[in-house]
Amino acid sequence: MSARPWALLAELTHACPLHCGYCSNPLELTSRTSELSTEQWAEVMRQAGELGVVHTHLSGGEPLLRRDLEGIVAAADAAGIYTQLVTSGVGLDRARLDVLAGAGLKSVQLSVQHAEPRASDRIAGRRSFEEKGRAAAVVRDVGLPLGLNVVLHRDNLDALDDIVELGLSWGVERIELANVQFYGWGLLNRAALMPTREQLAGAREAVRRWRERLPAGPELVWVVPDHFDGVAKPCMGGWGSVSLTVTPDGTVLPCPAAAALPDLDPPNVRDHSLGWIWGRSEAFRRYRGTDWMAEPCRSCSRRDEDFGGCRCQAYALTGDATRTDPACRLSPDHGLIRALTEDKGGERPKIRHRVPGRAKGAAGRV
Ligand code: SF4
Ligand code: FES
Repeated sequence: MSARPWALLAELTHACPLHCGYCSNPLELTSRTSELSTEQWAEVMRQAGELGVVHTHLSGGEPLLRRDLEGIVAAADAAGIYTQLVTSGVGLDRARLDVLAGAGLKSVQLSVQHAEPRASDRIAGRRSFEEKGRAAAVVRDVGLPLGLNVVLHRDNLDALDDIVELGLSWGVERIELANVQFYGWGLLNRAALMPTREQLAGAREAVRRWRERLPAGPELVWVVPDHFDGVAKPCMGGWGSVSLTVTPDGTVLPCPAAAALPDLDPPNVRDHSLGWIWGRSEAFRRYRGTDWMAEPCRSCSRRDEDFGGCRCQAYALTGDATRTDPACRLSPDHGLIRALTEDKGGERPKIRHRVPGRAKGAAGRV
């Protein structure tokens, strides 16, 4: 059995009040009727705690749409797991947060789409900015640590200074600046979301300046984009290495996007224990470590640092998840990434907001 996982991404529901075009959830969303019950989630938390998990992101979709969220938080807390709620803020009022905090919730991560209210609402596909501001105030009042999570793309990278100012005015302790990745629905919008090299350089410089200016925090986390530097990201810290994802219907994945890999046959907590899934399932063992690698990764000195990059990206771009991630400049497929990042001028496509269900004709590789 490999080292134990320490993190669990619990996707409690795919239902969501927002319609962000960068959504990385799969094209085909899990219906509410297929979701795990409270008792099944409580059992997931118990087994996760036994397995060594110490931290869970309670995510979605919008986890607040689960009326039994308090019970799931309590189960995680009882299993010795630190709980962080990842939320749009829509529906988070004082009464609900008091109950969640009472059940053992330890911190909140709030998503925001832009610092300017109208731009944020436009990207989210509905009015939500005001509610997010109110949610931030409620979290501060209750006294829980608050983080901001912003997915960065072509439509908001230029507003990085304003986003940091917003975080300061909302009293956050951490701002996660997550450069967009292209999975699920977001893959459909890749051309519309792709930033320019200049935008990224400007934003990087802004982060550097803010870090200098704010040595005592908030902490600024810059999630490095992997399309521009010729360097593959160590996706998930390695396949089946540190974390697992449980989707709303109990499917267990080595990474949130792996449901798109056509032949993975992922296990489900309804059929197997988390311990068996982690240690013995074929889905978790397939790309674990370095034995599965082909050249150039197999003989590369960086193979234990980046694990050959991202399997889901390799599949999305080449149709073969065993190939070196094309983000790496040593990959024979690196030209695919270079072509995507070339600014060809002209009008770029509009972002398609996320709508529930499947996008017609949108399955497969893009
Ligand atoms: Fe990483 Fe493979 Fe590229 Fe080497 S060849 S840097 S291991 S992705
Ligand atoms: Fe699946 Fe990178 S997102 S391995």
